[in-house]
Amino acid sequence: MRLPSRTRVGIVGAGPAGLLLARLLHRAGVDCVVLESREREYVEQRQRAGILEQATVDALRGCGAAERLDREGLAHDGIELRWNRRAYRVDFPSLTGGRRVWVYAQTEVVKDLIALDLAAGVPLAFAAPAVAVTGADTDRPVVHYRHRGRERTLACDYLVGCDGFHGIVRAAVPAAARTTYERLHPYSWLGVLADVPPSCDELIYARSPRGFALHSLRSTTVSRLYLQVANGTDPEAWSDERIWDELDNRFAVEGDWRLRRGPITQKSVLPMRGSVTAPMRYGSVFLAGDAAHIVPPTGAKGLNLAAGDVTALGRAFAARYADGSDRLLAAYSDSRLDRVRRAQEFSYSLTTMLHTDPGGTDFDARLQVSRLERIAESRAARAELAENYVGPPSD
Ligand code: APR
Ligand code: PHB
Repeated sequence: MRLPSRTRVGIVGAGPAGLLLARLLHRAGVDCVVLESREREYVEQRQRAGILEQATVDALRGCGAAERLDREGLAHDGIELRWNRRAYRVDFPSLTGGRRVWVYAQTEVVKDLIALDLAAGVPLAFAAPAVAVTGADTDRPVVHYRHRGRERTLACDYLVGCDGFHGIVRAAVPAAARTTYERLHPYSWLGVLADVPPSCDELIYARSPRGFALHSLRSTTVSRLYLQVANGTDPEAWSDERIWDELDNRFAVEGDWRLRRGPITQKSVLPMRGSVTAPMRYGSVFLAGDAAHIVPPTGAKGLNLAAGDVTALGRAFAARYADGSDRLLAAYSDSRLDRVRRAQEFSYSLTTMLHTDPGGTDFDARLQVSRLERIAESRAARAELAENYVGPPSD
């Protein structure tokens, strides 16, 4: 594929944010180029969360990217909370006016979008790392990147950093013009994929004195499970047997529930961090998705926030090129930061309600249990959880 040396919207990063933005721009007739540092195979394999809010599903449907999601995605109407050997189900539709979530892995969203972008002829280059950005404060930002052994440049009207938490676009914004607000939690998640049917149809979020555990799924034959572990944990230090024993212990509940065991096919450790960089725009440079904000995975908000960012940007660029209006571009940062803060607060409160803080005391543990009991007792508390979990309606 020939890569142009100039375009209207340059996109760095082909995760869900960059790929969905490219799809939206293509449909709006706005030229763009996507540069991705990794190979396609790597991007399509990367394991991430798998919960889609209604608004994310609507965004994918709206741009013709939900054909497989509509066939294979699993609609979920609730989650189960566990603590003190007790289980309590929170039902979403009855608490949120009919909203629910979908289980469809981020890797599948990424595969679908790559196939659509390439079929539509969007210039999307893999193994093309951006190495620098110049002119961030001008109306002609330039991305410098490498491709097939050559140094190349891409000049754009606008540049969007969809290059994740470790990307380079955020760093192109002068340090004095941005602020990062951050909280690193004192624990991580050990995530495993197992070739075994899920032990039940729904997600289970469990608090136990030994730490948090989550039961999730990828399909009717593949389970996804997570365990709270100490920061710095080496996944290889956890044998399969130790993982299953620990999960059994943390999910323990009155009655005869049983966790199904099977071969573990992947293990990895992920940190738990909340981070927001503000503003999300500097001159002609915009930040979207993980490049602008990270949430701890507990509420599975990362992909949904990324999709919300680029849905707003897609609309704003479409308006800019249809009638010259900058109004939506100007509103982007403030309006998205409002939403990001809400998701941060939710992810933080779910995280701290369910994890064992290594520096915490019995006092903290009792407060956590009190919060869980309040959810079981009060419809208002359940509605608050459910509304945040399913996310806002599409706007
Ligand atoms: N040049 C080109 N591409 C880059 C560069 C670079 N210098 N640096 C990073 N990238 C690429 C990464 O290889 C990755 O494919 O940018 C992409 C960023 O994708 P994601 O990390 O998936 O971020 P995003 O698209 O914002 O999606 C957010 O990812 O971390 C999860 O929970 C989060 O689900 C959420 C989603
Ligand atoms: C997942 O399936 O990977 C998953 C689900 C729910 C979460 C986090 C991760 O809150």
